[in-house]
Amino acid sequence: MKILVTGVTGQLGHDVMLELQSRGHEAIGAARKEFSLTDFEAARAFVERTHPDAIIHCAAYTAVDRAEDEKDLCMITNGGATRALAAAAKDVGAKFVYLSTDYVFPGTGDTPYETDALKGPANAYGLSKLAGETAVQELLDAYFIVRISWVFGVNGKNFVRTMLRLAETHDALTVVDDQIGSPTYTKDLARLLVDMVESEKYGVYHATNEGFCSWAEFASEIFRQAGKHVTVTPVPSSAYPTKATRPKNSRLSKAALDAAGFQRLPAWQDALARYLCELHKNPNK
Ligand SMILES: NC(=O)c1ccc[n+]([C@@H]2O[C@H](COP(=O)([O-])OP(=O)(O)OC[C@H]3O[C@@H](n4cnc5c(N)ncnc54)[C@H](OP(=O)(O)O)[C@@H]3O)[C@@H](O)[C@H]2O)c1
Repeated sequence: MKILVTGVTGQLGHDVMLELQSRGHEAIGAARKEFSLTDFEAARAFVERTHPDAIIHCAAYTAVDRAEDEKDLCMITNGGATRALAAAAKDVGAKFVYLSTDYVFPGTGDTPYETDALKGPANAYGLSKLAGETAVQELLDAYFIVRISWVFGVNGKNFVRTMLRLAETHDALTVVDDQIGSPTYTKDLARLLVDMVESEKYGVYHATNEGFCSWAEFASEIFRQAGKHVTVTPVPSSAYPTKATRPKNSRLSKAALDAAGFQRLPAWQDALARYLCELHKNPNK
């Protein structure tokens, strides 16, 4: 298949390109220099020119706190551009994969959200990603909406990298323990996304590595596996006020993946171990 991937300079787009190439697909990577998401006409023209069989739309405005000060830009980038790309996908008959987030949910309670649970984003980024979902569902039938959370990959900044950097200068850290979710390794997710795009099992899915943890538990496991002697003291979110409100409950149910016969991702601890190996092999990434 000929597959267009957006956001190839980011964490997920990078690994999706590698996965597509390893399976023999013709992968067309679009970075900002190909078109800016805020230039809807350029986005549409690129899709028309390349005429892909599928689009995996990984690019997004992802600066969650800055989005509170740039609400319009965030909405245009995540909502407007997704609508423009989905319309272009419809015109050329391409399947469409849209990456969404746990932030579309209010983040209350303590049970996993099903894919059709009531939405209610608590911040501007979540609202903009929900607008993207709405556009995809209004315009298309052949779509996959895949909600993910707590992403880490070799090609970008993430929580694991931040913890490893802090370990160079700290032997004790306080980390939030009242937000519960699941880390997602882009290499594992890329496999699933390509499985999806090769199928016609369209729908809304949740896809993270298996198991739940708090950020404090995640940090402790990073230090344990990396052999760093850093003491983690769990603290409530109120100890770290941020511009954007974070959901306390980011647990996502994988029932839709099971029902469609897609393979779940491995346990997050296993993913972390493989990621630390990957970082070790690519120290300059
Ligand atoms: N990271 C997470 O924890 C997380 C959690 C849930 C869902 N998601 C979703 O998962 C997807 C992939 O996330 P990620 O972690 O791979 O993101 P990322 O590393 O932050 O990469 C974002 C990508 O979007 C591109 N981009 C941003 N604004 C653009 C614009 N105006 N025009 C063209 N390209 C633009 C960036 O290009 P530049 O390099 O040029 O800026 C980059 O390639 C996104 O849809 C995100 O919303 C992420």
